[in-house]
Amino acid sequence: MPDNQATHWPANAPKLHHTTFTTLRMKQMVDWYGLVCGLRPVFQSYEASWLTNDDANHRIALLSPPGLKHPTDKGHETGIHHTAFEFKTFDMWLNNYIRLRNHDILPFLTLDHGITMSVYYQDPDGNGVEIQVDGFGDWADSSEWIANSLDFAKNPIGTYFDPEKLVAARESGLTFQEIHENARAGEYLPAVIPEDIFLPEVW
Ligand SMILES: [Fe+2]
Repeated sequence: MPDNQATHWPANAPKLHHTTFTTLRMKQMVDWYGLVCGLRPVFQSYEASWLTNDDANHRIALLSPPGLKHPTDKGHETGIHHTAFEFKTFDMWLNNYIRLRNHDILPFLTLDHGITMSVYYQDPDGNGVEIQVDGFGDWADSSEWIANSLDFAKNPIGTYFDPEKLVAARESGLTFQEIHENARAGEYLPAVIPEDIFLPEVW
């Protein structure tokens, strides 16, 4: 085995706990993460807020220090593309898409990655937020698939879908597995396929 970082993995790795964003739109950000992801503030001020939607004391933190500047070309700059949240079931995931659509919040990317079905939104600052459901309903199964599937190796970014076609497919009686397979195969393509996965500019 070549001498690389993999040979130095720790026996016990720390778990991912939270992400912190700087923002010039504190109130809009707190409200948006509450509406979209059910994150409630455990502490909130104009300078700093801590939000969670589970047992952790926070999952997203927001900081607004003096002197902060907005980005000049956020979508094409290196850094975080998105954070991701996961629903346990396809129905919960699709129902959340419908709930947000009824608030006029629509995804800018919709992709069947094989490992997940994912819709991507932008928060008020333009940060990406992926909301996903596991493509297999089981982390062990999707982990095995991503590591060994020729299908994933050939199409790692995924296949675009129109989420309204997923809603119609579910109403017609198709199962999650059938819809997932059809989406991956390109049966629910949107009218317009995005040219790239860059974050649309909001500044
Ligand atoms: Fe992701």
